[in-house]
Amino acid sequence: MNKFVWNKMKHDVKVEKLNDQHKMLFDILDKLYNAMEDKSDKNALAKVIDELILYSKEHLMTEEALLEKYNYPGIAQQKEQHKIFIEKVQHFREEFVTNNNFMLYFNMAVFLKNWIANHIQEIDRLYSDFLNERGVY
Ligand SMILES: [Fe+2]
Ligand SMILES: [Fe+2]
Repeated sequence: MNKFVWNKMKHDVKVEKLNDQHKMLFDILDKLYNAMEDKSDKNALAKVIDELILYSKEHLMTEEALLEKYNYPGIAQQKEQHKIFIEKVQHFREEFVTNNNFMLYFNMAVFLKNWIANHIQEIDRLYSDFLNERGVY
């Protein structure tokens, strides 16, 4: 069962490509959580974390490029927050290598999920009308 689910009411940013990427982030986090619950081996888990890092970078770059293209006024805040998120995910990766505390991993995965959900809801959704008004859906 998916625990981390994209919710239209809360997370719709009204731009299809970005919604798809946000859904994918939820899916990867969900995969990570389930793999931890199943006590998958460390290599398999490390692969999912790497997937999360790669995909997060891809999404954040796509989002920033689109916002920059249209001179979105909130771009600095977006970039700053994205930088923090990547640092958090990379910190997770480091903890994962040096630490064997599964409880800690669970907490970190939930933290990342909450972080990205809040960011989408409170910060990303601010660009919806701005982009829609410029013909980006
Ligand atoms: Fe986003
Ligand atoms: Fe964002």
